[in-house]
Amino acid sequence: MAASLDGFIARKDGSVDWLETTDEFAGGDSLDPGTVAAFLETIDCYVMGSRTYETALRFEARGLGWPYGGKPTFVLTRRELPRVRDTVEFCSGDLAQFVNGRLRPSFRSIWFVGGGAVSGECLRLGLADEVRYSILPILIGEGIPFFDELDKDVALHLAEVKAYRSGMVALRYEVRRTTS
Ligand SMILES: NC(=O)c1ccc[n+]([C@@H]2O[C@H](COP(=O)([O-])OP(=O)(O)OC[C@H]3O[C@@H](n4cnc5c(N)ncnc54)[C@H](OP(=O)(O)O)[C@@H]3O)[C@@H](O)[C@H]2O)c1
Repeated sequence: MAASLDGFIARKDGSVDWLETTDEFAGGDSLDPGTVAAFLETIDCYVMGSRTYETALRFEARGLGWPYGGKPTFVLTRRELPRVRDTVEFCSGDLAQFVNGRLRPSFRSIWFVGGGAVSGECLRLGLADEVRYSILPILIGEGIPFFDELDKDVALHLAEVKAYRSGMVALRYEVRRTTS
């Protein structure tokens, strides 16, 4: 996910207006649309929490499109939500069993879109192989944390760092498997 420097992925009311920043870092790379499209092609399916899904629905209703293309998109929820396309499937129950038993045998690259509740749960349950954390050049003071309710340390290996012209720094970490 993309976060403010102080670690928030959305304001408390869920708004992400601050994602559009105006900084410029002369030494940074440009985000080339072709590279982004090629990267998105490597993702086999998406998993997201219901509140992130609701944000996606609001964006789509405003004419901003559906960012997940035709890829299978699994929405974690215990509620009844509108199903806007055939690629969307709702899931509840044991997340570890769902990811390891249902998704891993069928999909190679499983992208957890967020939000904070789901990413915290994912790390807590030891389901993540990698964490992609992009820092935007802004502080917002308070909001929804990147990792909600993480109740233990998670050791990481810094695998990649990229700085962009927009002032965003993209970090890729591998989750270290510790034997404890
Ligand atoms: N900056 C970014 O890159 C970025 C990326 C993604 C999202 N976001 C933002 O993050 C915000 C949402 O984050 P959030 O932490 O509030 O919520 P979230 O993680 O998107 O969704 C949490 C909800 O998902 C459902 N859920 C979670 N785990 C479940 C499980 N194991 N089984 C069944 N249902 C489960 C529950 O909803 P029910 O009540 O429906 O059961 C839970 O309340 C939005 O504002 C979104 O725009 C930002």
